[in-house]
Formats: sequence, C-alpha cells, structure tokens
Amino acid sequence: MISKLLLATNNKDKVTEIRNLLMNTCIHVLTLSDLNLKIDVEEDKDTLEGNALKKAEEIYKVTDIPCSADDTGLFVNALNGEPGVFSSRYAGENASYSDNRIKLLRNLQGVPEDYRNAFFKTVVCFYYGKNNFMFFEGICKGHITLQERGEKGFGYDAIFQPEGFDRTFAELSIGEKNNISHRAKAFIKFKEYLETSDNK
Ligand code: IMP
Repeated sequence: MISKLLLATNNKDKVTEIRNLLMNTCIHVLTLSDLNLKIDVEEDKDTLEGNALKKAEEIYKVTDIPCSADDTGLFVNALNGEPGVFSSRYAGENASYSDNRIKLLRNLQGVPEDYRNAFFKTVVCFYYGKNNFMFFEGICKGHITLQERGEKGFGYDAIFQPEGFDRTFAELSIGEKNNISHRAKAFIKFKEYLETSDNK
C-alpha cells in the first residue's frame, strides 16, 4: 500500500470531506497547502474523467507523490444534464457558489418538484506513476429543491435533497453527508482498493 497520498485540490471544503473519508487508514494524507504549493490546473476537458486525470497527472509530475484528484458534476434531468461538467462555472467563469445556485433555480422556475430529479457524480483519478492511473466513481441521486435550505456544506448543497431524506445536503452534518454522498461513494471504492492492493 502507498504510505502517502497527495490531494490534488485547492478546495478546502473537499479536503475536509476527503480527510474524514480516509480517516482510519495508514495513509498519510497531504494537501497542496501542506507542501506550500499553489498550483491551479485549468479544468478545460469536457468530461469529469478528463478533468480528474488532468489535475492528478499535472500535480504528480510536479511532486512525484501519488495523487488523487476528483471532479464532480451536478446533472439535472429537466435541463438535459446541465450544469454537468460545467458545474463550477455554470453562471460564468468567476461565478460564486451562490451565483451558480441562483442560476440553476432560475432555469428550473415553474418546474414542479416531481420533475426536478438530479444526481451528483464524482470521478476520482488516482495517479501513481507515469501513465499509471485508475478511476473510481460515485453517484448520489436526489432532486433540486424549490428554494435554498440549510447553511452547511458548499456548492449546490443548499438546493440538493438526496433520495430518502427530507433535508438538503446543507441541512445534514458532514458525517451524514459522508454516509451517502457521490464523493464518499467514490472515495470509499478508492480506499477499499488502496487497502487491498499491496504493491502501489
Ligand atoms: P469540481 O470541479 O469537482 O470542483 O466541482 C464542480 C462544482 O460542483 C463545484 O464548484 C461545486 O459548485 C459543485 N460541487 C462539487 N461537489 C459538490 C458537493 O459535494 N456538493 C455541492 N456542490 C458540489
């Protein structure tokens, strides 16, 4: 098993969730800020896999440390899968989380609750040597609420209600979200792989 894993992200919200998910393993989880690295990789691919691979590969090339990078999209059925791979810049290049939520709610105006199905999908790329990489994916189904609810989480959490819950992601604790989320499902598969592979 690898002893060190570098999270190829600058997103503090993701780091908190991923550290929680990889707790109780022997892997020393490092972040870019632990290494005093400021690297921004442009997410310009048109698939989650393409962006996750690009981020993990570029950071691996600079650090020579096994890296994981994840890319996530929110896919809304009534909008033909939008915002999808463009979730972070749905309302424009420098859009805030709030701008993106407002645009999504506006585009769904008039669509009744039964037709607001959506899912989050996360793809994790584990890059552990030149041209050696693997993908792990996780999906969480739910629907887009009529208005924002909750203060926790980040991104689209305040307007996404996971299946089987009467609260949005932003109304759940980090522990509750990590039991069911797209990112959790992908990282649990990744963690199981790391725990059962012995020669990485
Ligand atoms: P990224 O490219 O993986 O950083 O994700 C794209 C965008 O999806 C982010 O900017 C967030 O707006 C949103 N996003 C990613 N993960 C989550 C989540 O767990 N909850 C809510 N929104 C998320």
